[in-house]
Amino acid sequence: MLDLDKLKTTAGLDIKGTRVLVRADLNVPVKDGKVSDATRLERLRPGLEDLARRGARIIVISHFGRPKGGPEPGLSLKPLAEKLSELLGRPVAFAPDCIGSAAEQTVAALQPGQIAVLENLRFHKGEEKNDPAFAGELAKLAELFVSDAFSTAHRAHASTDAIARLLPSYAGPLMMEEIDALRSVLDKPQRPVAAIIGGAKVSTKIALLTNLIGKVDKLIVGGAMANTFLLAQGVNVGKSLAEPDFAETARDIMHAAKARSCEIVLPADAVVAAKFEARAPSRVCPVLEVPGDQMILDIGPKAVAHFTDVLGRCRTLLWNGPLGAFEVPPFGEGTFQLARFAADATAAGKLTSVAGGGDTVAALNAAGVTDRFTYVSTAGGAFLEWLEGRELPGIAALIRS
Ligand code: 3PG
Ligand code: MG
Repeated sequence: MLDLDKLKTTAGLDIKGTRVLVRADLNVPVKDGKVSDATRLERLRPGLEDLARRGARIIVISHFGRPKGGPEPGLSLKPLAEKLSELLGRPVAFAPDCIGSAAEQTVAALQPGQIAVLENLRFHKGEEKNDPAFAGELAKLAELFVSDAFSTAHRAHASTDAIARLLPSYAGPLMMEEIDALRSVLDKPQRPVAAIIGGAKVSTKIALLTNLIGKVDKLIVGGAMANTFLLAQGVNVGKSLAEPDFAETARDIMHAAKARSCEIVLPADAVVAAKFEARAPSRVCPVLEVPGDQMILDIGPKAVAHFTDVLGRCRTLLWNGPLGAFEVPPFGEGTFQLARFAADATAAGKLTSVAGGGDTVAALNAAGVTDRFTYVSTAGGAFLEWLEGRELPGIAALIRS
């Protein structure tokens, strides 16, 4: 177990004029050359502004996409540096390489309070190999390291792990905020605690479900993964997406949950259709009566009522994964109604709500409730690995440093 209380921040340090290497996550969705969701950049802003105000010379490093270990023009961080500059309302310099003379010159030109972004770390093979020599090249650029990229902390890469052996290392404010939010729902939460877990597959969330049944009081399951739980109880789910090979696993999870006094809450009814397409003719039916030629695409009104009733009696909520095919109307209703209920309960001071991981944020954005949750994580994979109870290398490295 990591002793998270050992994480240090730069608060109180005199960093005027100090070259600070900031590992950020500028890996944001881009469509047709435009940033389609700038959330991660916006959430980095307070940390960067704080360092600038304190007179640090700020060197931002990040990966972008998954290049194959060499430069790929389409995966340059240059447009992201421009976007960051726009958000910060101040100039941001850019170096066309993250190590070597280009990086050194850009860094040498930084005045206290100024910011530079260096080119995509993954243009060098050493990054993903966690190569100490590559980390050494990065370390040369600065005197101090700040990791503010919780969303990459599940990667043991040179810029998240090896670097922390070479420079005095600190956690940034976004990193701390993410960790505090997760601790508030998993470590010493106000009980009862509910988890809403949705998404398509049990097979990708076995470790997560297994860990959570030991921590939460109510595990509300939706999305196609609920179909596998229903199958495990002998329910015929028609043409629904399900994983018969994991019915046994689902059964094991249900037994383990019982032993740990965690109630698994499954939908009693569903919205079904013959085809998975927008505005396909659909109807509500009990999960025990799904016709053989139909598939479950959302939870039904009885399930919504039951889930909100359970949630209404809980003080803490952890949410990962949509409850239906929310991207395709009208199959987002179940997710949206639960999201609105959770947001209202949070706004009324009755619930602490933390959500994160992949599709979840998109679903909450579509429901228009993101602002009213207690905390919405910027992380996908890292959030999921935390829920699995795993040690994240990018956090372990900071503690060890
Ligand atoms: C993410 O978007 O989940 C992080 O930036 C990590 O990216 P990766 O999955 O390519 O390591
Ligand atoms: Mg990912």
